[in-house]
Amino acid sequence: MCGIVGYIGDKSACEVVVEGLHRLEYRGYDSAGVAVINGGGRIDVRREVGKLARLRELLEKSPVDGHIGIGHTRWATHGRPSAYNAHPHTDCSGEIVVVHNGIVENFLDLRRELETKGHVFRSETDTEVIAHLVEEYMKGTDSLEEATRQALNRLQGAHGIVVMSSREPDRLIAARIGNAGGVTIGLGDGEMFVASDIPAILEHTRQMVFLESREMAVVTRNGFRATTLDGDPLEKEVHTIPWDPVSAAKGTYRHFMEKEIYEQARSVTDTIRGRVDFQKDEVILDGIPWAAEDARAFNRMVIVACGTSAYAGQIGKFLFENLARIPVEVDYGSEFRYRDPLIDKRSLVLAITQSGETVDTLAAMEEARNKGARLVSIVNVVGSQASRVADGLIYMQAGPEIGVASTKAFTASLVDEYLLAVHLGTLRGVLSRGRRRELLHGLSLLPNLVGKVLEQSALYEDLAARFYRHSNFLYLGRGINYPVALEGALKLKEISYIHAEGYPAGEMKHGPIALIDENMPVVAIALHDHVYEKMVSQVEQVKSRGGIVIAVATEGDDFIRTKADYVIEVPEVPYLLSPVVSVIPLQLLAYYIAVRRGADVDQPRNLAKSVTVE
Ligand code: AGP
Repeated sequence: MCGIVGYIGDKSACEVVVEGLHRLEYRGYDSAGVAVINGGGRIDVRREVGKLARLRELLEKSPVDGHIGIGHTRWATHGRPSAYNAHPHTDCSGEIVVVHNGIVENFLDLRRELETKGHVFRSETDTEVIAHLVEEYMKGTDSLEEATRQALNRLQGAHGIVVMSSREPDRLIAARIGNAGGVTIGLGDGEMFVASDIPAILEHTRQMVFLESREMAVVTRNGFRATTLDGDPLEKEVHTIPWDPVSAAKGTYRHFMEKEIYEQARSVTDTIRGRVDFQKDEVILDGIPWAAEDARAFNRMVIVACGTSAYAGQIGKFLFENLARIPVEVDYGSEFRYRDPLIDKRSLVLAITQSGETVDTLAAMEEARNKGARLVSIVNVVGSQASRVADGLIYMQAGPEIGVASTKAFTASLVDEYLLAVHLGTLRGVLSRGRRRELLHGLSLLPNLVGKVLEQSALYEDLAARFYRHSNFLYLGRGINYPVALEGALKLKEISYIHAEGYPAGEMKHGPIALIDENMPVVAIALHDHVYEKMVSQVEQVKSRGGIVIAVATEGDDFIRTKADYVIEVPEVPYLLSPVVSVIPLQLLAYYIAVRRGADVDQPRNLAKSVTVE
């Protein structure tokens, strides 16, 4: 969950590293730190509790200078957020520094062992043992690489690590063990970078190499050499990242979340681009390896994901069952692997993950793989773990998503699921050409419809001004828009800290109706579809108990205006695509309410963008 950056080259290492950390602050923001080898060959460390701005202030008062350095922004797991628990952590001599993402599961045993050998610890973290272990192994070798390898082989758990030492000031050692998040090496001209995430170094290079589990690399200013943790040499593929640095910058928007919501007409277009042959009425998905025979052999599908991506999966159930006529089950990554799921080689398991590094989703994929299932992933981050381990892959094409609250990745996943459902339906012979034409025509209209929904910001600001002081919200939806209600509630909770619940509208009378009074705003998604009348009747039930109704309704629906207190109109859209349009008002409502409340929209408390711990 933490962010890591390393640099070696001609530039100021501190500047490159701190700027990289700035772009990674969405990963963790409890504390931050940087270490640089100075002109005298010694390591200077600066660490500060709180956000990166505090570290920058410290660096202004107490600068560090050098051409090789590492840095870290932290999401605390062991030890409370404080300057002394912030990374980088040093050994006893101050000659070895480490930044780390993950949890050293056996750190108490290692710490006791090292303390009996005379090592003195200065923090409460698990990470510090790594620096001391490297120091210990340096007693038996004159190679930082070898000492690090031995140290890493002692660690239990999953890790992304960078080690730097003043004893070998021309190199960084980077390593990855398990699924604690990525370790990316960026290739420059006479300079090299290491980072936990691509955006940290994207302004410097698009040539990147991704370490797999139990791989390490010695990085010097002129290149890198990769090996396994057993010391076997590796040939690594260099990937060219298609994202551009401008799309990873906030520009004139106040928050990344705002930018990412307003980017959705573009991101939906990019997700569709090149994937539909409108002449043949076919979907083209290059990353899907299955032929008709394979697709017909699948007898069930399981979608695994977490958080917002899991809600995208719940919508996927409607798409795959309807369009590919395959039974679908949806499960949270964190639950799937602990219930001995009934899957086998005829099961298709779809993992949805923006980051591609969510540890619970990766573990679910591993479980599916072990049981012989076929794996496909829908992933946003290029080169991430989930994109590498599946048999089939569809990139979201949403571009970098930096705001902790996921928005454009959600709508992009819905479009990808729709494409995959049409593709599987075609392969399985259950979609006629006429039906495909209709489905793909609907898809072609989507970017324009999304653009229209984004035109009404004044309406949301007004609603936010009316409702930002409320402490509870209820979100109701039915059918394919029930998961949208869940997503709307999640958005509000995570960025504004207002309690919100999403509920299937028909279930309201079985309990939540007891909550309704004049203080309870109810957001009801009541589009013109086959459950419209049912939704209107729920709206009436809320109104007759004094509740306040904000309806998301189809453009031109005058009837709903006679029932609801406030109406947000969205353009008419085919049922199976309606969540892409109906979720946007809920994203905007949550956003403007959070802004009104003065909340830290891009970095909500206790959250992190990629959840790489269990
Ligand atoms: C969304 O707003 C959340 N921040 C969170 O639920 C997120 O969707 C979840 O952690 C899954 O992330 P992933 O898509 O990167 O796997």
